[in-house]
Amino acid sequence: MAQTKIGIIGGSGIYEIEGLEDARWVTVDSPWGAPSDEILTGRLDGVELAFLPRHGRGHYLSPTDVPYRANIDALKRLGVTDVISISACGSFREELAPGDFVIVDQFIDRTFARDKSFFGTGCVAHVSMAHPTCSRLGDACEAAAKAAGITVHRGGTYLAMEGPQFSSLAESKMYRDQWGADVIGMTNMPEAKLAREAELCYASVAMITDYDSWHPDHGEVDVTQIIATLTGNAEKGREKVRRLPALLGAERAPCPQGCDHALEFAVMTAPEK
Ligand code: ADE
Repeated sequence: MAQTKIGIIGGSGIYEIEGLEDARWVTVDSPWGAPSDEILTGRLDGVELAFLPRHGRGHYLSPTDVPYRANIDALKRLGVTDVISISACGSFREELAPGDFVIVDQFIDRTFARDKSFFGTGCVAHVSMAHPTCSRLGDACEAAAKAAGITVHRGGTYLAMEGPQFSSLAESKMYRDQWGADVIGMTNMPEAKLAREAELCYASVAMITDYDSWHPDHGEVDVTQIIATLTGNAEKGREKVRRLPALLGAERAPCPQGCDHALEFAVMTAPEK
């Protein structure tokens, strides 16, 4: 049976994992360019882990400039089987409060200035994005968050915006009231699409930091508020990550949802004669 290798894409604070064995930062080359940073690899509870700082250590890459293709390709080259995204998000729902985690399961992609596919001229493929996240991985994220004492909500629609500016009040209200989005962030697209093309399971954990701009009782979102909430939650986030390997296990069965053979019926280009 294949071995599990968990790939975590997220911000600073989650890499200082106590008990990570054989921890070392590795450089991974990719034909899609350089990934955001070196990747921290190691083992926890007998399961291989790889951590990639999405914005680079020190947070110097804007959401538009994150090299999404290189990041997913680098994780694939390292043998990662399961990708877990951890990211700060704004909330469109009263009950999704700052400090809560949401395991999102749908996306609306409003990004427009990013490379979104490994395919194109020469080889054309259309993968299904009807169910963009892996429910088996989502189950593990939910259980790990609960065990870490985090208030976690299962399911939700993530609106991916280009940024780097936050939304206007009119946009915030439209996403919430007309489009039915639950959370908003700037990074999960095209990450989720590329993970699917790379036949990797993908789950996304949204860490709620603010109410964006729609909420009449809350002021405008700002970075100070986001950092304060993330810092306050860092230990719980690390505890959640520490619990994941034991929940997923070292031996990996085929994905029940088929994320690991997403390309099977997706390639349009005829094979060479
Ligand atoms: N990340 C954290 N909060 C956000 C918000 N309100 N909009 C977009 N991205 C965010």
